[in-house]
Amino acid sequence: MANASSTPTLFSPARFGDLALANRVVMAPLTRNRAGAGLVPSPLAAEYYAQRAGAGLIITEATQVSRGAQGYLDTPGIYTPEQVAGWRAVTDAVHAEGGRIVVQLWHVGRISHTSLLPEGVQPVAPSAIRANAKTFTADGFVDVSEPRALALEEIPGVVAEFRTAARNAIDAGFDGVEIHGANGYLIDQFLRDGANHRDDAYGGSIENRTRFLFEVVKAVADEIGAGRVGVRLSPVTPAGDLRDSDPQPLFERAVERLDTLGIAYVHVIEGATGGDRNVAPFDYPALRRRFSGAWIVNNGYDRAMALDAVASQQADAVAFGVPYLANPDLVARLEQDAPLNTPDSDTFYGGGAKGYTDYPTLEDATSAA
Ligand SMILES: Cc1cc2nc3c(=O)[nH]c(=O)nc-3n(C[C@H](O)[C@H](O)[C@H](O)COP(=O)(O)O)c2cc1C
Repeated sequence: MANASSTPTLFSPARFGDLALANRVVMAPLTRNRAGAGLVPSPLAAEYYAQRAGAGLIITEATQVSRGAQGYLDTPGIYTPEQVAGWRAVTDAVHAEGGRIVVQLWHVGRISHTSLLPEGVQPVAPSAIRANAKTFTADGFVDVSEPRALALEEIPGVVAEFRTAARNAIDAGFDGVEIHGANGYLIDQFLRDGANHRDDAYGGSIENRTRFLFEVVKAVADEIGAGRVGVRLSPVTPAGDLRDSDPQPLFERAVERLDTLGIAYVHVIEGATGGDRNVAPFDYPALRRRFSGAWIVNNGYDRAMALDAVASQQADAVAFGVPYLANPDLVARLEQDAPLNTPDSDTFYGGGAKGYTDYPTLEDATSAA
């Protein structure tokens, strides 16, 4: 089992598959739109992630598996040698500080715009259903483009993109990968019937709608070892204009199928991502009971909730998004019950060092006083 001792706390070490965590405070994936030319992570990214190496596990910002997987301006990829070299600088910097880091592998599917895609092609999706959603391009916020449905014979190629990206991740020095199955992107679009109207082996029944997720995760696990693979899911989030008519049995089956692959962890966003935790009824403990690996929870956790989630063994670890963005030394602050920095939402997406690498640690604050 994932627990390193019989009475874990938020600060006790853990082993999730092949991943050895110094504590159970996880940095959630956070898109920052600061990649440089060629969608290579910038040198600032190495500094940003190294500052946060106190986390038991860092999950990087969502990272495209291919040129056609992109949906927002200046998000990094992991499909060219230059991108792999850029990520190598990040993983080296985190490892030098004693941290652990996995890359979140991402295909946006229908949440994209023709201006972001090679030769201005249409985004791809399970079905040709446009989301009522916006993305950020060189022209600012715009409606996402009309997608086209992936042909049945194209699907193995997309699965292979995830496999190659996972191999690249290991070449870049990552400790593993997290497959982005959440927040209304391609894998989630296959899962939920609001976006998947296919009538082939990838649509209709729950078995069919969980097939793409299963095939991606299996391919990645075959490539790099299941012990280095995690999956993020968000059963009821409305992000990306996505919904499902009956999420409980769908996600229970998805998790059951993932369990057969022996992956390291499942990472669940409870409720609406970054919003109401109770947006829709969902039985998360029932989901967890279907998985024998480690269980990471996220969404709106504060110190008290996180301490309780781990101490009560409802979760093996807790992921923090915005709190980690604004507090490089979050683990120390949680341990000491110290106050947290105020996040600056104006600098979340895009820009340079401001709001990225300049949030003070407790030590900085003390020495400045
Ligand atoms: C600036 C920002 C960027 C985000 N980028 C991603 C991402 O790349 N991948 C992802 O799965 N979730 C992403 N999220 C969602 C967070 O990982 C997390 O689920 C959310 O912030 C709720 O956790 P929190 O209450 O601890 O902040 C992002 C959230 C924010 C605020």
